[in-house]
Amino acid sequence: MKPFRIILCDMNKSVTQLWKSFIQEAATKNPNLVFIYNDSFEALIDHLKVDTVKNHAKTYSVVSPGNSFGYLGGGFDLALYKYFGGAPFEKWFRRQLDNEYKPVGSITTVDLQNCKEQNLNPTRDGLGYIIHCPTMITPNGPIFNPSEPMKTGVEPVFDATWNALRYAPDDTDAIILSGLCTGYAAVPEALSCKSMIFAIRLYLCDGLLSSEMKNILIMHFLGYPYPAYFPKECKEEAERVGISLENLHAFNALCDPIDWILPPHLIIE
Ligand code: ADP
Ligand code: NA
Ligand code: NA
Repeated sequence: MKPFRIILCDMNKSVTQLWKSFIQEAATKNPNLVFIYNDSFEALIDHLKVDTVKNHAKTYSVVSPGNSFGYLGGGFDLALYKYFGGAPFEKWFRRQLDNEYKPVGSITTVDLQNCKEQNLNPTRDGLGYIIHCPTMITPNGPIFNPSEPMKTGVEPVFDATWNALRYAPDDTDAIILSGLCTGYAAVPEALSCKSMIFAIRLYLCDGLLSSEMKNILIMHFLGYPYPAYFPKECKEEAERVGISLENLHAFNALCDPIDWILPPHLIIE
């Protein structure tokens, strides 16, 4: 399967700068792999329109860092709400979620081609899907708790990014993500961006690491090292690709650089 392009869009400049600081240089040199855009969602769509005309039709999947009830009321979701047509679209969108509670950590892809409502034309600019990744039950307060930064910061952001990349529909040419949990959810930007980029870098080394090796990296990044789940073959693989077992054992996602456990040369061409 051809990897899709990853488009990271946020109007908050410090978020886009942090993304840049955590991604490998090789990835930023190839904007067809990862494209980091510091402006609004609306401006991104205008920008992509030109791109789409030049490079034929593209199917974009956009991630909604939403709530469990599918309302599109605030933050990045509000931009989606406005772009897709306001209240009538929100009503249609929530119906696609069966008007049902979607737990944080779940994922639902909504096919915009199924929208036959008059006046709404959600696919007009090539957007094919919304990937609903609820990051909170309701926006009644932050999810982040400073006394538990791993469990309430690193883990939910990594999981949402992983889910979005893993379950994006097969015909996605590019996926659009904003800073996850950096708004209402109040996860510190540096933690959120590092966790997102770690998930993205695992995606970008598709085929260069075994899935068991990726599991090992994830369990150490998230702070759940478990020796019984660390097969001998993975220790050999780590050595082969230049991952230091010492760094892996000592790794702390709150302060250590991603490069310590995922060498920058591991990236698809
Ligand atoms: P969460 O609930 O996961 O914290 P938010 O939607 O509140 O998510 O915010 C996520 C990110 O979206 C923030 O970093 C914010 O800067 C960005 N954002 C909000 N509105 C827009 C927009 N119109 N265009 C681009 N980025 C946006
Ligand atoms: Na949210
Ligand atoms: Na939001």
